[in-house]
Amino acid sequence: LKVNLELVARDARNAVQRNDVIIVIDVLRCTSSIITALTNGAHAIIPTSTLSAARLEVAEHPQYLLAGERRGVKPTGFMLGNSPLEFTRDRVAGKTIVMTTTSGTAAFARVKGHPYVLVGAFLNAGAVAQMAFTLSEHNHLNISFALSGKRGSFSLEDFLGAGAIIHHFANKNLTYSDTAYASLLAYEHAHPSLFSALCEGTHAKTLINLGFRNDVIHCTQMNKYATVPLLQGDSIISTHKPTQNL
Ligand code: MLT
Repeated sequence: LKVNLELVARDARNAVQRNDVIIVIDVLRCTSSIITALTNGAHAIIPTSTLSAARLEVAEHPQYLLAGERRGVKPTGFMLGNSPLEFTRDRVAGKTIVMTTTSGTAAFARVKGHPYVLVGAFLNAGAVAQMAFTLSEHNHLNISFALSGKRGSFSLEDFLGAGAIIHHFANKNLTYSDTAYASLLAYEHAHPSLFSALCEGTHAKTLINLGFRNDVIHCTQMNKYATVPLLQGDSIISTHKPTQNL
């Protein structure tokens, strides 16, 4: 089994064409927010590419929560922004959340309809690694990371996030693409001080300037949660263990 890594968002289509098990990563902050919301009991997340599509979905289903960001901040009329710390149990338990973010939710549009799309970040690195490996072995499929990046370009934190998940594949009989192996090397170099490493990246700097330092701290916590979100149709749901029909 091979582990591939697509460095920029548009190349997620290569992973789809190869029919790999795909792990979408947007450490700051979309996939970290999704993992946190589902851990806190959200029923499902509906990732949506545009503000208008998100607003329309909520107009049709007024019981849904509208969440997301543009330029890092909550758009007008939204109930929640894209800060993982906002997705508390009292706000999200039992709720379906329509989410639109600049790059993260767009990444899901690129892989929509693909059978095995998992959601990863530092927060669930070990759990998502285990689920991806099980799916890969069971279905004889390779694994690919699809990095959301920032507005289509490479981002440091997503590369390190992939490396953290690969780190949890240790002792498995896997081979790695050059990009996948490079992410592992980068993570192993950075992990004694993950927060400082992320802060060298442009997006963490932007978030800290906007007052979201605590979000960056939250998103650098390793294995805080065992939640493994899975894209099924239009929705992302939580699944802790692979089931027979996966
Ligand atoms: C995105 O999807 O572009 C990010 O999650 C942006 C953010 O940090 O809010």
